[in-house]
Amino acid sequence: MPVTTAPDLLDEAFYADLDGMHETFAYLRATDPVYRDPVSGFVGVTRHADVIDVERRASVFVSSRGYRAVWSPAEDNMIAQDDPGHAEQRALVARRLTPRGVARDEARLRALIDELLDAVAGAGRMEVVDALAAQLPSRLTAELLGFPEDRWRDIKSWSERLMRLDSIPRDPSGRVMQGVISAIGEFQAYLDEAVPRFREAPDDSFISVWANAQVKGCPMSDHTIMNETGLFISGGAETTRTAIARGLRAFCDHPDQWERMAEDPATVPGAVEEVLRWVSPLNQMFRTAVTDDVIGGTPVQAGDRIALLYPSANRDEAVFDDPFRFDITRHPNHHVAFGFGPHVCVGQALARLELRLLFTEMSRRFTNLRVLSEPVIERNIFAGAVERFELGFDLR
Ligand code: HEM
Repeated sequence: MPVTTAPDLLDEAFYADLDGMHETFAYLRATDPVYRDPVSGFVGVTRHADVIDVERRASVFVSSRGYRAVWSPAEDNMIAQDDPGHAEQRALVARRLTPRGVARDEARLRALIDELLDAVAGAGRMEVVDALAAQLPSRLTAELLGFPEDRWRDIKSWSERLMRLDSIPRDPSGRVMQGVISAIGEFQAYLDEAVPRFREAPDDSFISVWANAQVKGCPMSDHTIMNETGLFISGGAETTRTAIARGLRAFCDHPDQWERMAEDPATVPGAVEEVLRWVSPLNQMFRTAVTDDVIGGTPVQAGDRIALLYPSANRDEAVFDDPFRFDITRHPNHHVAFGFGPHVCVGQALARLELRLLFTEMSRRFTNLRVLSEPVIERNIFAGAVERFELGFDLR
């Protein structure tokens, strides 16, 4: 795709061509870093410092008027609100998701990773998404939320449908909208049965926490429980899936770095950060300006919708030395793959743990990773997810 000064931020094809996207972002960072998309009118923020500036100033650039390209005004989960409502709902689950809180998941995760790797080891090849990248986080998300683990394929499918929300304005067939509605209907059917059950017999799953929670002095409504559940289905599953699948693709090009992890597992945490920077699973979050203001020297107006372009910020030459080099020893590595500020990813410790345990165990057991067929990138505005990816490997 040729470099253009003004990519259409609702064009699925723009994000699916990863090289073209990065080429365009590099050009924008140098020439027009806070640019106006002429098709949608969105303001695209491409530089690392400006993304952080917008995220920090959360009372000027709010989330409550749309944190994604498409604004659903009735959405009332934590990410769709500003403080104090946001902070109150985040606090209900935040402690369980701290590094200390997720340490209790480690034994379970190790067992799950073993099971998934055992299942493919003999074949010397796998379709990464189904065998590993989608399955691991979907099963974990099911457990965390309070769904039976064997519903992981539903979690995967709901997550895929919810993540396409931003394509609704460009889909005259209505199929994307239908997908979102049917996903919500399907997990709502489970909530209808599970919420009363968790009120009778609470446990520590998130649906149970919400079923028994007070917000703004009242019991959390069924509507809010549905919205929080939807946020965690998409937030927990599709993102980590993208980091695993595209991270493994990067290691196919860098066998020396894969071997380095195997020889010295102490390098794995740094490798996880580099995979997150390199892949940047989410393409953007949105904010809305509530007053006229300035971002990186460029005026914006009250009502402007602001796109925080994470993949661009994570290749910003002003922050990262040689940003197009994949380097697991990169230090420092202040990427914004998890965002920044009050809405910074609440699940980041769990995502890091999943990736760390997976890369440690997989590099210990498998070598000579090779691409049997290139990853197919989903046509998706929000996430750079992979649909299919055939990977070959040898056992050590
Ligand atoms: C590699 C994996 C992941 C990536 C790249 C990722 C990325 C992000 C980003 C960019 C944000 C928005 C931050 C902002 O606006 O500044 C976010 C928020 C969020 N993420 Fe994640 N995420 C990942 C994994 C997870 C997991 C595993 C969970 C659930 C266990 C999760 C749950 C959430 C939630 C609930 C929010 C909203 C937080 C708030 O509004 O306060 N994410 N994530």
